Amino acid sequence: VQILFNVILVLHFLGLAAIIGTFLTQMRPPRRPSPGYLHGSLLQLVTGVAMVGLAYPLGWEPDNAKIGVKLLITLAILGLYLANRKKEELPTGAWGAIGGLAITNVAIAVFWG
Ligand code: HEM
Repeated sequence: VQILFNVILVLHFLGLAAIIGTFLTQMRPPRRPSPGYLHGSLLQLVTGVAMVGLAYPLGWEPDNAKIGVKLLITLAILGLYLANRKKEELPTGAWGAIGGLAITNVAIAVFWG
């Protein structure tokens, strides 16, 4: 179970890279509503929930407040992408919010608790 957890954690890092990597490539316009945001945020949701489930057989309790905040932030990223996906370009505010929220989740993962 520990190996499975670690494999999923690696996928969680790749989802992080998909979101923030796509964000960084769009520092300079055009800022397309790239599927990297969609795939990255969906991967974070699936792998995050899976790790929460695997915590119990591994004998620890996830911090539900921390997980809850990360979940809401990830849903906000997904929502910002979905609301703008039909557009030619992401509004600068939506692009900035996606990147800022993703970086916030990294900070929460590292500093909380
Ligand atoms: C943009 C979205 C997200 C980012 C950037 C992100 C980032 C991270 C990072 C950097 C870690 C490693 C922390 C460490 O090993 O010390 C981590 C671990 C973890 N994440 Fe996420 N995460 C995101 C979304 C989520 C979501 C939606 C969930 C659950 C619903 C979640 C649940 C977890 C769990 C359970 C761990 C491992 C244990 C822990 O450190 O609490 N993550 N995340």
